[in-house]
Amino acid sequence: MKAIILAGGTGSRLYPLTQVTSKQLQAVFDKPMIYYPLTVLIAAGIRDICLISTSNDLPRFKHLLHDGTQWGINIIHREQARPSGIAQAFLIAEEFIGTDNVALMLGDNIFSGSDDFPRALSTFRGGATIFAYLVKNPEHYGVVEFTPLGQPLSLEEKPLKPKSNYAVPGVYLYDNQVLEIARSIRPSARGEMEITDVNLEYMRRGELHVHRLSRGFAWMDAGTSSTLQEASAYIAAIERRQGIKIGCPEEAALIRKFLTIERFEALVQAMPNCEYRDYLSHLATETRNLGKMS
Ligand code: DAU
Repeated sequence: MKAIILAGGTGSRLYPLTQVTSKQLQAVFDKPMIYYPLTVLIAAGIRDICLISTSNDLPRFKHLLHDGTQWGINIIHREQARPSGIAQAFLIAEEFIGTDNVALMLGDNIFSGSDDFPRALSTFRGGATIFAYLVKNPEHYGVVEFTPLGQPLSLEEKPLKPKSNYAVPGVYLYDNQVLEIARSIRPSARGEMEITDVNLEYMRRGELHVHRLSRGFAWMDAGTSSTLQEASAYIAAIERRQGIKIGCPEEAALIRKFLTIERFEALVQAMPNCEYRDYLSHLATETRNLGKMS
C-alpha cells in the first residue's frame, strides 16, 4: 500500500497564522502538524508516500521532510495548483499510485491512541475502507449512517441535518479502482471534487467498508485556531503524563525497523540539543539495552 498526505488548501480558517506558514506546518504542541499523520503511516508500515501541497508551501515541506531517506522511507512532493477538492489528490498522484492500493490522509488530521489503523490496513482486501468516529458536531464532517446490522446506509458531506453522530475522519484506504472513480467525479455545488463522492461510488458498488473507531481512540482535526489549541493541549497532556511522544517519525521508523539502531543514533546525534533529541537519545539507549537482554 502506498499513501498520499494531502497538505494543501488555503488554511483560511487559521488566518493570520497561515499568512506566514502553511496550516500543516503549524506547531501541534512540540512538533509540526504534518508529523502526526506521517507517523501514523510509518507506524502502519507504509514506506512510499506522496506529499501534496501548494506551490508556495512545497519548498518548506521539502525542507522539513526531504525525500524521507533519513527515516528509511520514500517521500515524493507534488503540487496542487488550486484547492479543487480532496479527491483531486488521486489524479495528481496517479503516476505515483500506478497499479497499487493507496491510503489517503489529510494533513490536518491527528490520530492517537490505538492500533485501529494498522489493523484495518493489515485486513484490507480491496474496495474502500473508511472510518467512523462519534462526535457531538457531525454537521462539520462527512457523516455515515448505519443499518441496525452495522452496514453503511447513507453517507453525506456536511449535512444540515445529520442522520447520525458518526463523522468520517480524514483517513481512507482504497484499492486501485479509486483512480477510475476519481476521474469520473464532477465538482460539487461548492466547486470541489468531494472525497465523499468517491466513497459514495464505492458504496454504490457494494465495496465500502466502514470501520467504527474504538472509544479510546482520539481523532482531532486541527483546522481552526480553537481545534489547533485543543489538539496541542491533548498531545501535551498525554506526552507529559506518560513520558512518551506522539507523532514522532524517527521513533516509528525505528520500531518498524525502517532504520537500524546505528542509523537512528546518527540521526539523533545530528540534531541540536533539545527535548526532542533527549527523548530519542533515551530511546536509543533503551533499544540497545533491550538488544543486549534478548
Ligand atoms: O477532517 C475530516 C473531514 O475532511 C471529512 O469528514 C470530510 O468528509 C472531508 O470533506 C474533509 O472536510 P473538511 O471541511 O475538513 O475539508 P477541508 O476543505 O478543510 O480540507 C481538509 C484538508 O485537506 C486540509 O488540510 C486542506 C487539504 N486540502 C483540501 C482541499 C479541498 C487540500 O490540500 N486541497 C484541497 O483541494
